[in-house]
Amino acid sequence: MPLLEVQDLRVYYQTIRGDVKALDGASFSLAEGEIMGLAGESGCGKSTLGRSLVLLKPPMKYVEGRVTLEDFSLPIWDREKMNAFRFSKISLIPQYAMNALNPTRKVKKIFTDILATKGIKGSQVLPELRRRLEMVELPLDVLNMYPIELSGGMKQRVVMVLSTFLNPSLLIADEITSALDVSTQRAVVKMLVDFRDRRVVRAMIVITHDISLLYQIADSILVMYAGKLVEKGTTEEILRAPKHPYTRFLIASLPDIGVRYGERKLEGVPGCPPLLLQPPRGCRFRERCPHAFEKCLEEPPFVAIGPSGRQVACWQALEEHA
Ligand SMILES: Nc1ncnc2c1ncn2[C@@H]1O[C@H](COP(=O)(O)OP(=O)(O)OP(=O)(O)O)[C@@H](O)[C@H]1O
Ligand code: SF4
Ligand SMILES: [Mg+2]
Repeated sequence: MPLLEVQDLRVYYQTIRGDVKALDGASFSLAEGEIMGLAGESGCGKSTLGRSLVLLKPPMKYVEGRVTLEDFSLPIWDREKMNAFRFSKISLIPQYAMNALNPTRKVKKIFTDILATKGIKGSQVLPELRRRLEMVELPLDVLNMYPIELSGGMKQRVVMVLSTFLNPSLLIADEITSALDVSTQRAVVKMLVDFRDRRVVRAMIVITHDISLLYQIADSILVMYAGKLVEKGTTEEILRAPKHPYTRFLIASLPDIGVRYGERKLEGVPGCPPLLLQPPRGCRFRERCPHAFEKCLEEPPFVAIGPSGRQVACWQALEEHA
């Protein structure tokens, strides 16, 4: 059994103009120990997928789907019931989290407040907290500092220690290196791998614009386009031999290591992603795809090709493989 199994998950945003179909039928799984990178252009639904598994709140709307973690079905549609799982079983470091640390509280107070919501007294866990701070190479003094006194890299490490303190089975890290300089990025990424290797967490989803970062740490990569999953494979497979035309563009347009594709338009791909209020019929990449043919008016299923567990949603790739 996989550690995490997501089946046909659909989560929309309710707006006055109608539902934004930001996550429209996602099915994938994560094995014990797997670090999976989640990639795709800005607005394709990466954060929506991450948030849906942890804290699904309005204007997000659960439409359908099942999420199973360690053989247990998570009630993701029920915010209250999910309190029992947040931090302890599944934890999210949201995009921009380090800037959301309460500026009026010292780091120690931020910790004790969060632990108190889980019925844990700060004084009971001080030795373990010290150990964790050492693990991410933070001095103990940070406990008596305000977030404003910390550098970006230090704040991000505080957030990492906070989110993993209760050893959640699954950690979702959303763009946690984007605001950091290159050497701090490297340190933070190394710590993520440490968390997995030391079994602080059992599996991880790393959301990022920076594929070169995934190359360093991810076992597998899942690519999204316009609210849909388009390809999943091992990091090697995705980077060396992408099957989906969109993944090919993504990889081919990869600039030099360290530059993020989200910051520039994809070269050689005419047009832009469809609006998710009224996504087009059939394959959502059809308008921009140089290989589109009649069959693409039907939606391609996201299915396994070959024994390695690789998955792709593209009629052309499926035909090539048949
Ligand atoms: N609160 C909201 N209300 C309405 N639509 C939203 C809301 N938040 C996100 N969306 C829409 O949902 C889609 C997916 O957004 P999401 O934030 O998941 O993308 P993303 O892949 O994480 O992008 P980025 O790389 O820029 O972080 C986008 O089209 C976005 O406009
Ligand atoms: S299904 Fe068709 S339109 Fe979509 S990516 Fe494949 S070939 Fe292109
Ligand atoms: Mg995002």
